[in-house]
Parts: sequence; structure tokens; C-alpha cells
Amino acid sequence: MRKRKEIIAINSITDMHCHILPGMDDGAKDVETSVKMAQMALAEGISRIIATPHFEPDIKNIEDFVAKREEAILHLTSELKARGIDIEILTGAEVYLTPSLLELARLERLCLGNSRYMLVEIPFMSVPIWMDELLYSLQLKGVTPVLAHPERNIKLITKPQILDNFVDRGLMLQINASSFYDGIARDIRGFMKYVMKNQMVHFLATDAHSTGSRPPKIQDSIRVIADAYGRDIVEYMLENAREIR
Ligand SMILES: [Fe+2]
Repeated sequence: MRKRKEIIAINSITDMHCHILPGMDDGAKDVETSVKMAQMALAEGISRIIATPHFEPDIKNIEDFVAKREEAILHLTSELKARGIDIEILTGAEVYLTPSLLELARLERLCLGNSRYMLVEIPFMSVPIWMDELLYSLQLKGVTPVLAHPERNIKLITKPQILDNFVDRGLMLQINASSFYDGIARDIRGFMKYVMKNQMVHFLATDAHSTGSRPPKIQDSIRVIADAYGRDIVEYMLENAREIR
């Protein structure tokens, strides 16, 4: 007889990649959407969200970005408090990796919470030739880069071995919760197996943008990962996110 799948529900989750702030990017379009996303997240066992609006160094001004983000967080947290929704929102960003990033002052403003971890993204179609050098330069500045959803990069999907060197040299990886159960998972199955089996994934997060097509859901992925790779790896990834302060 087939063994019944272990049902696990983990609480006190930190979602370290979420576009919950209203009006900042292609995430929550208004504060009502943000509040609904927070309610959904809470129902998923998420108690802390690191808000990670997109920041593109070549297009956006960091001072304006930080000021706008502060305003959005204040607005959202007061709204959550007024409605009795007990969820903590921290500052963060999803930084588009480009050489001009190095010219910016006080990079810690773009890091997750008060940590020195920076969530970075690269183009979907390629792995830039300067990536290696740029990541190293960030590390010299005391920043630990965390690559957002490598499973969405065409080049990495076809050749996950490219990541070996990067990870060996301190790059951390964040996988989207939906990539473990969505329809797209079929195309990226080999990639996911490679990075999971080789224990190269450090973070699991929702990368939520709305309540609809990209919602803040994580429990389904927790079940899938625990079933396929063991509960320890789930706890490891969630604990890493909890450690971000
Ligand atoms: Fe994102």
C-alpha cells in the first residue's frame, strides 16, 4: 500500500521575495491589493515579508527609490495595523544586476532587511559575461548576492552546471515556490532536480506579485519539496530566510 504523504504545515515563515508594496513596480497595484496579499500570506503561515520591489540601477535613482519605498511601507503597515493583520513588513529590493550598481553609494539600502544579503536578478535569456566579476566586486563590498529564481533563466535551465562555480564562490540561490508545482515545472524539471540534489538552493520564496496569477502561496511547495527531497531541506531554506533581520 502506498504510504500516505506526510502533511506538514510550517508557520513563522519569512517570505524574502515579494512584490507586496503598492504602486512600486509590477506588483501590488494599490494598497487594497497589498492588504489582500498580506491576508493570503498570513493564511499560508507567513509572518514576515521582505518587500522586494524591482530596482534597476540604470533606470531608477536610488534616493527616489528608497524614499518611495519608505512611504509605501509606512502606508501599508499602518493599513495592516488598522485592520489587525499581524504581519511584519521589512525593506528589501530585487536588484537588476548591472555594472553601474557598483557606482551607487551605501548599497546596504538595497539589501534584505538590515542584512548584507542582496537579492539580484539577471536577464531571462542570458548569463552576462561580466556576472562573475560583478558578483565578486559585490562580495568585496561586503554584500552577499542571492540570485532570484535562476529557474527562469533559459541558459541556466539548459545548463545548470554553470551555477556550480558561482555557488562555490558564495552566490546563494532563491527558487520560487510556484516553480515546484506550476505548469512550467515540466520544462525546468531537470534544472530543479540538479540544484536540489546538489543542495545548491538556499532560499524558497513566493515572488508574489498579486492575489491572482502570482499569489503569496508557499505551503504547496513545502509539501512537494518535503516529499521529494526531505523535510530537512525545507527547514534549512526557511531557516535561512528567518535569519535575515
Ligand atoms: Fe521578483
